[in-house]
Amino acid sequence: MTQCAITSKGPEFTMERTALYPGSFDPMTHGHADIIERGLRLFDRIIVGVAVNISKKPLFSLEERVGFLEARFPQAEVEIAHLDGLLVDEAKRLGCVAILRGIRNGSDFDYEFRMTCMNGHLAPELETVFLMADPEHLFVSSSLIKEVARFGGEITDFVPEDVAQALGERLGDQ
Ligand code: COA
Repeated sequence: MTQCAITSKGPEFTMERTALYPGSFDPMTHGHADIIERGLRLFDRIIVGVAVNISKKPLFSLEERVGFLEARFPQAEVEIAHLDGLLVDEAKRLGCVAILRGIRNGSDFDYEFRMTCMNGHLAPELETVFLMADPEHLFVSSSLIKEVARFGGEITDFVPEDVAQALGERLGDQ
């Protein structure tokens, strides 16, 4: 999509810059939301891609994970999509110029480094942009929140209300 700005040199047409923010989002947390909100300072549009990570067995269905994100981000600049195939192919199909990821610590960095090298090899035209996670969310992960919820701990500091409720219903009596 193109955008038009009137400058002192006349109208200037620029391409809208879209980033793809992929992840499992099982479920989404305030940490993910923070990355999306800050990503919107850099990009015109963010597509949040709910992807398949073959090494994870999700608690929530794809539709549920997409639904939590849609409820949290109703605005037009954030689109929620289901990613089916190879990340770089999906990013190109969706017209993205970059992949956006959050980094919390050194182990995230090691993992992201390998993924970025592979994605860069497969699609050199796509950049990966990292945002450092907000210090408040450095220790948060979806698995840890599920573990706390399973044992009846308080999770409302980490996830939106609808997610907290769904976690309580799904895990509360296990
Ligand atoms: N705040 C809080 N938690 C965060 C966070 C943040 N800012 N950023 C990440 N996390 C957590 C997530 O909750 C998640 O926790 P969990 O492991 O307990 O579930 C963990 O960090 C990392 O997960 P996520 O960011 O969701 O990424 P992922 O590793 O599950 O996703 C894909 C990886 C989906 C991007 C990758 O598997 C992929 O690209 N798949 C498509 C197929 C493909 O192209 N594969 C080749 C890739 S080279």
